[in-house]
Amino acid sequence: MLRLGTPRDGVLRWRRRAILRFGFLGAVGLAATEIVALVAPFIRVNRIEGLGNPVAVGTKTQVLELFSATNDRPVLFREGRFFLLHAPGGIIAAYRKCTHLGCAVPWNDAEDRFHCPCHGSEYDKHTAVVLRIPAPKPLQLFHITESADGQLVVDTNPLRVIDRPDEKWDPAVIEITDS
Ligand code: FES
Repeated sequence: MLRLGTPRDGVLRWRRRAILRFGFLGAVGLAATEIVALVAPFIRVNRIEGLGNPVAVGTKTQVLELFSATNDRPVLFREGRFFLLHAPGGIIAAYRKCTHLGCAVPWNDAEDRFHCPCHGSEYDKHTAVVLRIPAPKPLQLFHITESADGQLVVDTNPLRVIDRPDEKWDPAVIEITDS
């Protein structure tokens, strides 16, 4: 015999379905949120500071005075990732990316030279040419220009570096001379 449900049974069934539906939607929403949270860091474009932009480093006189007061100690511009060096006859800007496998090369006061912590390459204080392998070539250089108001401006675009495949110092790379 067919048994008909009471109106109360119908309400209970409707409530059960509604709870299931909301539960399902909640689970889908939670899963979507987790996926977005996991993927977002990989697709977000990080703002690049320093490297890639022009960096003003002071006037030629100021830079030369600093070199003169510090026995030509290289001057680090951390955000632009370069050192200003007092080369024989002028000022150059060395990109601090090791030419071996790309580690950031620090200046070492005790050794009076650059010494890469990754595999031991060493670079000269004034020219950044290789003193000790495995680095295959000198540190690359950034272009420097002098603006109308006398500021030296370093172009830190890594796509416009001065590459030096020869393992020796070439004064032709100097763009800002001492005199
Ligand atoms: S990355 Fe500098 S020596 Fe290997």
